[in-house]
Amino acid sequence: MLLEILKSPDPRLRQKGSPVEAEPGVQELVQNLKETLLAQKDPEGVGLAATQVGRTERVIIVRELADEKKNRTEKVMALLNPQVLSQSFQTTKEYEGCLSVPGYYGLVSRAEKIKVTALEENGRPIKFRAEGLLARTILHEIDHLEGILFTDRAEGKLLSEEELDSLLQQNLSLNLRIVFFGSSRYSTLVAESLHNQPGLTLALVVSQEHQLSSQPPALEQFAQKYNLKHLRVAKLGKEETELIAEARPDFLITADFGLKIPPSLLQCPRIAPLNVHPSLLPKYRGPAPGPAAILQGERESGITIIQMDAGFDTGAVIAQERFPLDPQETAASFYQKAYELGAKRLHKVLLQMAEGKIVLRAQDNNQATYTSKISKVCGRVKWEEDSPDYIERMIRAYYPWPGAWTTIGELRKFYLKEAYLPQTSDPKRLKLLKGHLREGKLELAEVQIEGKKPISWRQFQAGHL
Ligand code: NI
Repeated sequence: MLLEILKSPDPRLRQKGSPVEAEPGVQELVQNLKETLLAQKDPEGVGLAATQVGRTERVIIVRELADEKKNRTEKVMALLNPQVLSQSFQTTKEYEGCLSVPGYYGLVSRAEKIKVTALEENGRPIKFRAEGLLARTILHEIDHLEGILFTDRAEGKLLSEEELDSLLQQNLSLNLRIVFFGSSRYSTLVAESLHNQPGLTLALVVSQEHQLSSQPPALEQFAQKYNLKHLRVAKLGKEETELIAEARPDFLITADFGLKIPPSLLQCPRIAPLNVHPSLLPKYRGPAPGPAAILQGERESGITIIQMDAGFDTGAVIAQERFPLDPQETAASFYQKAYELGAKRLHKVLLQMAEGKIVLRAQDNNQATYTSKISKVCGRVKWEEDSPDYIERMIRAYYPWPGAWTTIGELRKFYLKEAYLPQTSDPKRLKLLKGHLREGKLELAEVQIEGKKPISWRQFQAGHL
């Protein structure tokens, strides 16, 4: 007997199933579910759960399609009380549909392999492994028994049949596996953008252990949010290398990571190891291109995607994009811009490289310039050496960290030009957060006394001078 399939938003689709035994009533339900599933033609279905026909038994039907390569014929299975015993860390992302949500498709990430236990319709207990589409179907149907629809899990917006077709024609057969290395919220910008692209899977996310901070790296929080496999490392030794190789990456990608990728790892991805660097390489190699470009008063910078080699930011250039620097640009806004642009470009680069459509261009080492790591001491204003416009650039280049700073005593002596008295040589640190130039002179607008909240210059003067 054919059963009516409930359509979302029917509230019965949100009911949970209860365990069953293999008794005649259940066997009849199984028979009807099978007939109903096989009667679905346009579109066909690969699975059906009892809750989709308004019943509350824990019964699902899944269809394993024929596969000539594996010499397998089509099979329709009934599983009673199905349970997932374990699932692989590796996930795949595919578009899914559902007979209860006709006409819509959504991108859902699920384990690639699972181990399942259930009863067959005759009551015999079975245990088996499933992978690929079959694993996905079983997980989807078990979700139904919990009142969960694929639309609850779908990333991004749902697509209509037409939209899905055109996407599939474009590129969906690709499933590129990525091991992503980073740490900061800028790394997370790039990782998140990759994660949202169909055809790409973040197989493993690696972040650098931060010795100074007790907070977990921003990238780790991202990995947890999306349930991605994650590794926090202080170094990249043999053990870490093995774990990374196990993820079978097509690409390694680093963005604001902080550790050098050792030669043994550069060999690991099937296609290439890539780095997103926020400068127009070969200019501003090294760890602090943002502050360096602002300090130099550059009008323009950019983002470069390179194929990593054994050097530091020396690899061949794959893609480069320019952006203008704003007169108010800070290191924070610089990196935000750069990595957003880099993320966008990176997606194109990955697809092109996967199709072998990329030309590499070596960097001209003679044009290279270098930046070095920033420390707190870099931000200290040298009032007797630094010009007002240089100090104004320092304020932006070192925002938010380490900040351009001075002591209150030095501020009084050099900026306010108060007669210098030993008793006013206040050694307390003061961060200069905002300032601008007026007729060649520096005018402070916002400051922060060490350990206190930021305040306007006016407030500072009112309270302290
Ligand atoms: Ni469904």
